[in-house]
Amino acid sequence: MLRLHHGASALRFARPRPRFGRSARAVTPTKAGLLDSFRNVSKRSQNGAKSATGTTSEVDVAALERAVKLETAPVRQGEKNEANTKRRAVMAGNWKLNPKTAADAKTLAALVGAARRDVDADVDVFVCPPAPFLADVVRVLEGSGVAVGCQNIYWKDSGAFTGEMTAEMAKSVGCTHVLVGHSERRELFGETDEHTRLKTRKAIDCGMTAVLCIGETKTEYEAGQARRVCSRQLEAALEGVQADELSQVIVAYEPVWAIGTGLTATPAIAQSVHAGIRQWFREKYGDGAASKIRIQYGGSVKPETVDELMQAPDVDGCLVGGASLVAEQFGRIFNFDPTPEGPRKLWAEEVVPCGNQLGESPIWSEERQTLYWVDAPAGTLFSWDLKSAPVRTNFGEVLGCVGLRSGGTLILGLESGLHAFDPATKKLKLLSEFEPGLNTRPNDGRVDRFGNFVIGSYNNAHRVDAAPIGGLWRLRAKGQELEEILDYKFRCSNCICFTKSGTTMFFCDTPTRKIYQFDYDPRVGPMNRRLLYELPSSVPGGPDGAQCDDDGNLWAAISGAGKVIRITPEGKVNLEIELPVKQPTSVTIGGPMLDTVFITTRAENGRNDAGSLFACRVDDTRGIPEPEYADSTSLANAETLTPGLTRAEQSAAKSKFCSDCGVAFASKTARFCANCGARRS
Ligand code: PGA
Repeated sequence: MLRLHHGASALRFARPRPRFGRSARAVTPTKAGLLDSFRNVSKRSQNGAKSATGTTSEVDVAALERAVKLETAPVRQGEKNEANTKRRAVMAGNWKLNPKTAADAKTLAALVGAARRDVDADVDVFVCPPAPFLADVVRVLEGSGVAVGCQNIYWKDSGAFTGEMTAEMAKSVGCTHVLVGHSERRELFGETDEHTRLKTRKAIDCGMTAVLCIGETKTEYEAGQARRVCSRQLEAALEGVQADELSQVIVAYEPVWAIGTGLTATPAIAQSVHAGIRQWFREKYGDGAASKIRIQYGGSVKPETVDELMQAPDVDGCLVGGASLVAEQFGRIFNFDPTPEGPRKLWAEEVVPCGNQLGESPIWSEERQTLYWVDAPAGTLFSWDLKSAPVRTNFGEVLGCVGLRSGGTLILGLESGLHAFDPATKKLKLLSEFEPGLNTRPNDGRVDRFGNFVIGSYNNAHRVDAAPIGGLWRLRAKGQELEEILDYKFRCSNCICFTKSGTTMFFCDTPTRKIYQFDYDPRVGPMNRRLLYELPSSVPGGPDGAQCDDDGNLWAAISGAGKVIRITPEGKVNLEIELPVKQPTSVTIGGPMLDTVFITTRAENGRNDAGSLFACRVDDTRGIPEPEYADSTSLANAETLTPGLTRAEQSAAKSKFCSDCGVAFASKTARFCANCGARRS
């Protein structure tokens, strides 16, 4: 069934007009504090549309900084899990104040030694018993392949330091490793970054391996400071340590909130921080040192969690507390399965910390070498050349999606209707209204391979009334007729995309958790619906935006599950991209080689990177060049709205007289009355 409605001109002034915000300015980046200043601005921008046009210079500097990282960082993403095979895994047991007696310690050591002898794994293993048991444990473990470390040293060589133990003493009884900077030492015994530096130095000078523990507290984690805290701790502890001494350093990332609490960081969270730590080494010591340094994860590691953690390319081992006291469990941990069953995994990295409330609709233009996406509720369009700062344009109303349009222009799914927009001239023209009279808005939209724009609706109240009132529509190429192309209604359209030939379309009403494929005819639209994939009940969330690759697979963002899945034409998931955030919202494959998956995300409490743009390189397929909406309607006479004003300011500018004193404003854009000082409202 096709339903048509027209309406560009009829609706022209009937609904609020979109407005422009200030466009972005790129400025020269300075290193220090960029990300933080960015985040502060982004935070503010989440509080309302006005702030989307707030202080742009800080934002853009930081975005530029991150953009530069895109060119280097995600290259590693396509390397499967080679990173793990490049560095030998290292597993450590931190016994803390356990077990009770020397006899128990010897028994535990014997069991760990036996477990190690049983396992032919390519892994280094060491345990760190309490000081009084060190000599005994070294003796028991001799020849077992399990080394022994101590939990602490003092940095002096001798003297009146009651209760302390020197590195030499530990070494003389056979210790090869020493923990430094463990969060319990920092928190409970007042150890500072400076103490950690002195101990690290001493361990290296003494020929031992320093296991440098770093990690953020819960508050710091929730403030999004994990990477910053780790960088600070590394900077302090490794001051003066030369690149050739790093073979005597292992880093243990232990988020304090995960130690002994049963809360393990998800592998994707661990991976994102480990990648940041390795990046720190890259910047400080160069690529060679960065690719060699081993980084352990610590915090409630268990036999059940180790396999997935060890799949993360930058996780080289684990520092294990509680589970290392049970030899069987510790044995299973160091005998981890590096290739557990299930789909292959890749790991996305944050590339633009853009603080979106609801990022959506990423599309890549091959011709323009530009990535576009939107922050829907903020009404902001982002365009990014992957090198300089993303340019943002605010429309002051909900912007559901963006598509390419001929002549270097775009098509926008704005709340007030579908518009053509020229980013160069800022001209905007209404092409068609969208579901007038319904409490809906444009949601997911894509240009089909025949030059039409297909766009689905979103019931603004669907979480409350669950009413399927939205439709799937198509704006014909070279025309402004919006025709309804699906013979049923739904709540929240998503997944709209097309295979390379254009004759298969995908679609999902998110709350149903079912992705359908249809035969797609350029004249008739979608036909012959069949189920491609239903989200299993064990997976939270629902399918959001999706995109096809060159091999006919569908890549779907699973919002709520923190992953993008790749579904084969047969409906099997054969690859998952893990994200450290829970709500990826949409996906596309772009970049100069069409080999980079870009993922938009939604804001979440307690994670500053939620709302950022993520990326990940793929090595076994390519994206398909995104088609353009084939419409050459001229924008020459379209309205150009004043850039630099929010929507409220724009309409205020239209009232000539101050509502307080009645005197005319000095200029069209004056925000305050020159006569009485009242704000223009
Ligand atoms: P956990 O301890 O495994 O018991 O959380 C880890 C550590 O403190 O090293």
